[in-house]
Amino acid sequence: MFDSGFGGLTVARAVIDLLPHEDLVYVGDTGRYPYGPRPLHEVRMFAQEITKYLLDEHDVKLLVIACNNAAAAALEDLQASVDVPVMGVIEPGVRSLISATTTGRIGVIATAGTVASGAYQRAVDATNATVDLTIAACPGFVEFVERGDTDSDEVHVLAERLLAPVRAAGVDALLLGCTHYPYLARTISDVMGRDVVLVSSADETAFDVRERLHGSDRAAPRDRESTHCFFSSGDAVSFSAIGGRLFGPELAHAETVPWA
Ligand code: DGL
Repeated sequence: MFDSGFGGLTVARAVIDLLPHEDLVYVGDTGRYPYGPRPLHEVRMFAQEITKYLLDEHDVKLLVIACNNAAAAALEDLQASVDVPVMGVIEPGVRSLISATTTGRIGVIATAGTVASGAYQRAVDATNATVDLTIAACPGFVEFVERGDTDSDEVHVLAERLLAPVRAAGVDALLLGCTHYPYLARTISDVMGRDVVLVSSADETAFDVRERLHGSDRAAPRDRESTHCFFSSGDAVSFSAIGGRLFGPELAHAETVPWA
């Protein structure tokens, strides 16, 4: 599993909770985050490089792109080019979002790169649901999470400004279309109001992973002890310090990926 940094840990948490007997290798590309402002072809290159590392060095049997931006840039490409199943977070998130709305007015917030890719518009269109979609980019949110700041006054002020379009649209369900955003859920919920359901792709993605493994001969036996390893392309010590605060004690230790 990989992400530009800590965001994919929200997906890692859901996968570990649902499939505790499976091993997990997580790469946070903190040396090159944020992906959001970068061109998609550059993010695709990063995704290919990390995938190669996970396949060559860790022999992974399934890959989760736990980053909307990287999934928007590289999901189809990787699905066509590697031999293991590759799963993203965009379709699972859209499924949850559509089942959460009652009014049909739905919102997605994501990084600038994900919004510009059009991936969410396409994924919603593909469902054929009769919904009214508003999408807003939230530049700056990822940087707050990467600093470990999830509820300061500053992030609240930024949220008031960035969430204005989805508030004005009167959405009743809002998809956190960046895996970092669940760490800002309290702030986002304060701004959106309690009547708006916040949806994250993490749980639905974990269900997809379970379904994919159980439909194959690759699932680990339920009685086995699993290992969870964390790698960062940035400073591994600060990755485990901030990551541990966000994720919990399982992330007491992280290592640096060899190309960093
Ligand atoms: N967690 C990534 C996502 O889901 C954040 C991208 C970034 O680094 O800007 O899009």
